[in-house]
Amino acid sequence: MSDWDVIVIGAGAAGMFAAIEAGRRGRRVLLIDHAKAPGEKIRISGGGRCNFTNIHAGPGNFLSANPRFAVSALKRFTARDFLARVEAHGIAWHEKTLGQLFCDGSAREIVTMLTGGLAEAGVTLRLGTPVEAVGRDGDFVVQAGGAQRAQSLVIATGGKSIPKMGATGFGYDIARQFGLGLVETRPGLVPLTFAEQELAPMKALAGVSVQGVAASGKARFEEAVLFTHRGLSGPAILQVSSFWREGGEITLSLAPGHDVFAELKAQKAAAGRQAPQTALARLLPKALAQHLVAGLTGNLADLSDKRLRTLAEAVNAWRLRPVGSEGYRTAEVTLGGVDTAGLDSRTLAARAVPGLHFIGEVVDVTGWLGGYNFQWAWSSGWAAGQVA
Ligand code: FDA
Repeated sequence: MSDWDVIVIGAGAAGMFAAIEAGRRGRRVLLIDHAKAPGEKIRISGGGRCNFTNIHAGPGNFLSANPRFAVSALKRFTARDFLARVEAHGIAWHEKTLGQLFCDGSAREIVTMLTGGLAEAGVTLRLGTPVEAVGRDGDFVVQAGGAQRAQSLVIATGGKSIPKMGATGFGYDIARQFGLGLVETRPGLVPLTFAEQELAPMKALAGVSVQGVAASGKARFEEAVLFTHRGLSGPAILQVSSFWREGGEITLSLAPGHDVFAELKAQKAAAGRQAPQTALARLLPKALAQHLVAGLTGNLADLSDKRLRTLAEAVNAWRLRPVGSEGYRTAEVTLGGVDTAGLDSRTLAARAVPGLHFIGEVVDVTGWLGGYNFQWAWSSGWAAGQVA
């Protein structure tokens, strides 16, 4: 006889949610994590307030080799379903912007809700327990300080982001071991970095933040852009970083909604004696205006329409070529992962290995910034928890 009905490896958002759901069905569930505490990424998320879902979450907010894969899980356990649980636990919340829901108090409230849910569902939680190996002889056999046997195995070990917090490539190794495909992984939702020649003049802007549009290919996001000592960050940049590919460009529009050329021309007619940076500072932070006029001499009246047009383009179509990103050290998520082609979208089970499920970030489904990644963890965890 098996020791357990279900073993879940990884006590993050997805693993805890799946374990709760399976436990509620009366399954004997063991949840294992090598970390000392469960839900560490939840605890630090959203600046300590956890952006626990996005009320508008839909398949269009996710990147995956198969953009339709997430539809089933997201439909069956929605952002409103998760919100209902948050409210049932008396956790106060607010919408910050763009449908992003945060705790009023602390992210720890979400962790406490989940650990309480585990206890209520009778789940056995073993922390500080590294998994040495996984095998199968009818049952799944997990070597973790002794052999543990179960009929179902749920892999919820997340991606490679923030190795300092215990992220490993373990889930990918298990996928490979059982013959599943992998979509190449790369850091997502991550600050972008620049070559020294591009970075040097930008360094004076470190700390400047502006509401802009960052675009990479067809993806465009209107949110804050932040200049840093290393390059660019802020929500708009993190969003496009998931779409940007090495060697490619990004475009910044720093005064979206403004016809900058028309406004500069009007300023030239009305007050031609002002410096161009003074005119630009009506639309942009002063330091940024100063940066963009570097190399221009004279006042506004001295600048030809051609010059004004070039200046306007620098404001609303500033083309930049990042050299890379800050990598997994600071990336909020890992793009790519277990290929959805080998998984059932309703149960998150491996088609070729009955009883083996992959959920959460380890799967090739990655959300935008704004609560989407946790919603995928809840939805995919819920779906696996109904059948494991
Ligand atoms: P998660 O990484 O949460 O959990 C995996 C678990 O597996 C960990 O507990 C780990 O210790 C364990 N594990 C790994 N390898 C193991 C092994 N070999 N053996 C045993 N255990 C192992 N998203 C969002 O929607 N809103 C937000 O506000 C934020 N904010 C945010 C801030 C920061 C700084 C980061 C880094 C990320 C976010 N995210 C986010 C993203 C979000 O945290 C992430 O998508 C989810 O935590 C993924 O949940 P999982 O359960 O799949 O993995």
